[in-house]
Amino acid sequence: MAQTPNAIRLTGPDQTTARRDLMEKTGKVFLIGAGPGDPDLLTVKALRCLQSAEVVIYDRLVSDEIMELVPKDAVLVPVGKAPKHHMVPQEGINELLVEHAHKATTIVRLKGGDPFIFGRGSEEAQRLVEAGIPFEVVPGITAAQGCSTSLHVPLTHRGMATGVRYVTGHCRNDVPLDLNWSSLADEATTLVVYMGLAAIEQISRELIANGMRADIPVLAISKGTTKDERHVLADLRSIHQVAKQAELKAPTLFIIGEVASFTGQLHVDEGTPIATPAKEAAHG
Ligand SMILES: C[S@@+](CC[C@H](N)C(=O)[O-])C[C@H]1O[C@@H](n2cnc3c(N)ncnc32)[C@H](O)[C@@H]1O
Repeated sequence: MAQTPNAIRLTGPDQTTARRDLMEKTGKVFLIGAGPGDPDLLTVKALRCLQSAEVVIYDRLVSDEIMELVPKDAVLVPVGKAPKHHMVPQEGINELLVEHAHKATTIVRLKGGDPFIFGRGSEEAQRLVEAGIPFEVVPGITAAQGCSTSLHVPLTHRGMATGVRYVTGHCRNDVPLDLNWSSLADEATTLVVYMGLAAIEQISRELIANGMRADIPVLAISKGTTKDERHVLADLRSIHQVAKQAELKAPTLFIIGEVASFTGQLHVDEGTPIATPAKEAAHG
């Protein structure tokens, strides 16, 4: 016989009712991606879930504008993670989800970007499965997508980049990053480096040592899609110095690849007359 989520065996004619009662005792958790910062980039589903939340367990990267959309009577639980400083360790966040699911009906776990891209959303989902708590995952626009489109830089472009890779530049306990550098040093693929502000010098050095051109363009974007967005464009050889001089702050991501040369290019000045198609012009 199939087991109930919390491993209690139900037998006899009351099994369906008993199972329903058991389920009714837990709420549902929504693991929601809040996107890169701009509240207009929330999905309609994320907004609907947020507006019906009783409890919101949220990360530091979720913008104030998005937090303003949460109902005034919702319980707010900050678990903000700052670089090198986890306010609530991941295991603690997992337990908070389980705890609140036993007390409330609609629990929102709100994360920057997408919950399943460097968001540890899957670890939280594993814990919910273990505890038999129903949940749903609502995708969010990733920082890579938000930052690149904000600056009109495509992550792929025919003849320039046939693919894109997202990698983490986060070093655990200050140990140098150990990535597969020879596979990453592929100029046909755009490389998006998350959490790489502290390690960008090592990243550039390793990529160049593994054959990537030192003059390949690199775009660094800080606080993308927010009113505080800033960016710098440099080449792989100098990006660490340029980012440092510009005093870019976290969250920052790096787009490494030929596509970064689109920065400032896909742009039309307001007030530019609309171009007349040649055919129409020929016919007067
Ligand atoms: C823990 S990861 C979260 C990624 C997120 N789940 C996503 O889907 O994009 C945090 C990193 O994402 C990047 N990031 C998040 N929001 C950003 C933003 N608005 N601008 C630039 N980078 C951002 C930074 O590299 C930051 O260190």
